Amino acid sequence: MRILSGIQPTGRFHWGNYFGAIRQYIALQTNEQAFYFIADLHALTTVRDPDQLRRNSLDAALDMLALGLDPSQATLFLQSDVPEVAELTWLLMTVTQMHLLEKCHAYKDKRDRGLPADAGLFTYPVLMAADILIYDSQVVPVGQDQVQHIEVTRDIAQRFNNMYQREVFQLPEARVLDSSAKVPGLDGEKMSKSYNNTIELFEEPKKLRKKIMSIKTDSLPVEAPKDPDQCPVFALYALFADEAQRTAMAERYRAGGLGYGEAKQALFEQADAWIGPARARRAELAANEAGVREILAAGAAKARGKAREVLERARSACGLSHG
Ligand code: ADP
Ligand code: TRP
Repeated sequence: MRILSGIQPTGRFHWGNYFGAIRQYIALQTNEQAFYFIADLHALTTVRDPDQLRRNSLDAALDMLALGLDPSQATLFLQSDVPEVAELTWLLMTVTQMHLLEKCHAYKDKRDRGLPADAGLFTYPVLMAADILIYDSQVVPVGQDQVQHIEVTRDIAQRFNNMYQREVFQLPEARVLDSSAKVPGLDGEKMSKSYNNTIELFEEPKKLRKKIMSIKTDSLPVEAPKDPDQCPVFALYALFADEAQRTAMAERYRAGGLGYGEAKQALFEQADAWIGPARARRAELAANEAGVREILAAGAAKARGKAREVLERARSACGLSHG
């Protein structure tokens, strides 16, 4: 089965990105035909500094590989290395109704806040539909916020198939990623770049500790019993701990005598030990940037093979080439 997903290189990945998405992508690589790409064309709607975008894209690839994405199992590539996707976007645009895009949240949120939106942001879901349809993707693992875009993709695919009376595109299904994995940020709200409350995955130990120490907690004294389920420090600790460690920590919360400083130190030690091996792998990969570029180029070559085939089906259906 073809699994496909994309992630935007809009900044360094944080704990929310890993536990909410990347970890699950990596888990799927073993028994499915997984295609994962770094959505640099989408990121152009927000990242306007060319050096920054190049840096972010390479960092995203390094992070994914260091975290266990195995290029011999999954295909990893840059979205912009498959230019066929831009051509397909145009073909799809000609069957996309305006009202479908007007209700899509990226554009709508901006417009509702009175901010200027460009055509790129407005048509963003059509590029996303092209990303998905061009590889005959069957399953698209995404966070809840992207489900609307998969529905739009299905709608566009159906309209195209109906318009030209051919089964050009397969209809993809969304697979909503485990939403219980909603990772809290430094302020206890959902961790997100837009809330400025993130902890980056590959943060250096000193900075990591400092960030963890700044997590907002209530002002209960050390001796007071505490409810682990109300505490972001515990929620974060639970991500890195095994079952026995989680239970033991929850008991210490409830018993009283555990201060937040100590809980944060335990979280730091757990997280730092967890990321250690990935940090080492990342350093190795970063020392051989050319090797990483080769992985991306090989991924793109494989993805392009499939993309050309599907684009040709679409071109031929609508009268742009023989067939
Ligand atoms: P951000 O909100 O920081 O801009 P993105 O929207 O780029 O992050 O998220 C990329 C992926 O990571 C999405 O699939 C999203 O569902 C997941 N994700 C982001 N933040 C969290 C979080 N706090 N908890 C769980 N998943 C998250
Ligand atoms: N829009 C997605 C996000 O912001 C990223 C993305 C682009 C994507 N194209 C895709 C996800 C295709 C799944 C399939 O998270």
